[in-house]
Amino acid sequence: MSGAKRPPTPDGVPLLGHGLAFSRDPFDALSEWADEGEVVQLEFPGQSLYMVTEPELIQQVLVENHDAFTIGRQQRETFDGIEDDAVTATTGDRWRRLRTGLHPAFTWDGIRSFGDGMAERTAAHVTRWEDGDRLDLLAEMRTLTLHLLADTLLGVDVEGDEDVVTDAADALVARADPRRFGTLLPGWIPTPTERRFDRAVGRLDDYVADVLADRSSGEEGDRDEPNGHDDVCSVLLAARERGDLSTAEVQDNLTALLLAGHDSSAVTLTYAWYELSRHPEVRESLADEVEAVIGDGLPGADDFEDLGRTRHVVRETLRLYPPAWAVNREATEAVTLGGYEIPSGAQVMMPQWVVHRDSRWWDDPETFDPSRWGSEVRRTSNASGERSEPRGDDGESSRSRRLGRGAADVHAIAVVAARDRHRGDGSADGVMGYTSSTRPTVPHD
Ligand code: HEM
Repeated sequence: MSGAKRPPTPDGVPLLGHGLAFSRDPFDALSEWADEGEVVQLEFPGQSLYMVTEPELIQQVLVENHDAFTIGRQQRETFDGIEDDAVTATTGDRWRRLRTGLHPAFTWDGIRSFGDGMAERTAAHVTRWEDGDRLDLLAEMRTLTLHLLADTLLGVDVEGDEDVVTDAADALVARADPRRFGTLLPGWIPTPTERRFDRAVGRLDDYVADVLADRSSGEEGDRDEPNGHDDVCSVLLAARERGDLSTAEVQDNLTALLLAGHDSSAVTLTYAWYELSRHPEVRESLADEVEAVIGDGLPGADDFEDLGRTRHVVRETLRLYPPAWAVNREATEAVTLGGYEIPSGAQVMMPQWVVHRDSRWWDDPETFDPSRWGSEVRRTSNASGERSEPRGDDGESSRSRRLGRGAADVHAIAVVAARDRHRGDGSADGVMGYTSSTRPTVPHD
């Protein structure tokens, strides 16, 4: 640490530090502060935060020097009481054990086997849309992605219970909203947001416990290996049977996957449709590709690699509207980052929202241009979102992660693009909004 200096601190106001500007317009404030240095120190009531916006340094935190960091305080507090025993909220050896327990459900072949089902479910969903309908796209996409995920990969029948999951996701997002005054208060103070959170999470807990009880008693029928591969429920229950996972770990991991798996994908698809509605030329070229690759049929897992333009639409959407707009870590020891001193216990925030719109790394960063992904692009570390896995990675697990995250989105876009070509004009209105995740506001007449 010798020779390390303190990072610059942008101007703030007495007592509230940078909190006031942040609560007024988080993204504008973060982008402005990022201009002052690749690492800056921000002061919020009760805590200092180190914001890192240089891709090589982000790579150091998330990958090369990952041992010196753990999950950020904000993430731990957000998941407190709902995912305490899940991969999303644990660290170190426990996190590794949980990830290993889940791994059999996320193999390349396993995920591929669910691909066809995803396209069929999407087709069934969009058939309900009539020409001229005005749709709340976010609500539509949430129901769709929840079914894509739950009915296939997870093996949970959510029909009729969708609101139990989406209400809990909304309560989680509201609780984590950094602009909310209550985030500065201890969680046991019963603010309306905390009370809503407790109610929604209580319902989801009961629901997940019932699902697991039905599955383990066989009442749901034998859903094991519906496609020759185990779904997440079977994998979790088998791990509990072997004594590898506790009941709480099984419950919290299923809860975490229900929430983490549907919401980000729904937000991505919603923004994709928003941008496609503003770029008819991209929509045309997408429809051409879909017609050439899948014709009148439905896309299957084997078409994933051939739907290049479709994948680029998803990537470009993730660049401009990353559903989680920052990744947070806490330093477990003092480290030097880019010549700056980061003390042990410091909170480190890496806002992909800012990095993805930085003209140093992207040409014309504010423009939605999926074709930029067809050529050599300079990408940021973690630009696509998942927690980096710094351990020796076999090609298998990184391929299945890629397919697992992208397949549902790509298939859903392909199916809707095919329908759009024949029936609709694809127009959509929407306005940018954000809370703890990047979310569009509901379009109005
Ligand atoms: C567009 C889609 C998605 C985006 C943008 C996204 C983004 C993220 C981000 C930013 C994290 C936290 C990374 C960190 O703190 O290091 C994360 C973690 C996670 N996501 Fe996703 N995600 C998406 C889709 C999914 C899907 C479909 C699933 C499940 C099938 C999923 C399951 C998880 C899990 C289990 C974690 C915790 C992983 C760990 O800590 O080991 N995500 N995701």
